[in-house]
Amino acid sequence: MVNIQSEKERIESWKKARKAELYINPLPVRIWHWLNALGFIILILSGTQLRYPNLFNVMSFETAVRTHNWVAFAVIANYCVWLGFYLFSDRITVYHPELNPKKFFDKAFAQMRYYGYGIFRGESSPHKVRPYDKFNPMQSITYQIVMLLVVPAQFFTGLLMWDVKRFESWIAFLGGIEVIGTVHVLIYIFFLAFTSVHAYMGALGRSPATHFREMFTGYEEEH
Ligand code: HEM
Repeated sequence: MVNIQSEKERIESWKKARKAELYINPLPVRIWHWLNALGFIILILSGTQLRYPNLFNVMSFETAVRTHNWVAFAVIANYCVWLGFYLFSDRITVYHPELNPKKFFDKAFAQMRYYGYGIFRGESSPHKVRPYDKFNPMQSITYQIVMLLVVPAQFFTGLLMWDVKRFESWIAFLGGIEVIGTVHVLIYIFFLAFTSVHAYMGALGRSPATHFREMFTGYEEEH
């Protein structure tokens, strides 16, 4: 005779394991991400007004400066939440680089082929999303560079320009205020492009809203 109790327990534990397997975006990452996205949009808009007032002019210069500064500090604090979460959590594995070049390039080419061809033929992505290995090689390298290099460089150059008197010696050491300002604007242009391409790629799920919902609920939607 089948033991109904143990059969029920088996089903329950299978359901639990399945749920854990689909939980790809922990709460701190989701909170960080959407506050960060909002912050970046405000920084891009206020930054555009500061640098190109002929192109975009919806507030006074003083309001644009104040908004840009306050939101920038909020975005920096939020970045510390993201960094702290990954540094003290076992989920850091999603940011581990693939150190075997052959494996990396094989997987990266398969992913590029998918984005350039397979996706239009209804094929499924060669990368299987898992909680501890959720990024495909293209996402992995992009997010590593953006989060560990480009974002900190933007914070640093912004901070130097926020108080030129206090950081006078740093500014001189790095080649002067024009150099710092140019780097800040070049990274701003990069973020304009990154945010647009990133939001577009985010819409390439099973339906355009799939990955957006996943970033709100935390759960990958089953294929
Ligand atoms: C309009 C603004 C944005 C939208 C609609 C958006 C959308 C998304 C979506 C749907 C995902 C989940 C899919 C994936 O992992 O690729 C995601 C993840 C991610 N986004 Fe964004 N994003 C926006 C802005 C940004 C900005 C400004 C940054 C960085 C400066 C950023 C950095 C990231 C990172 C690092 C992840 C992976 C997070 C993790 O799991 O650790 N996003 N985004």
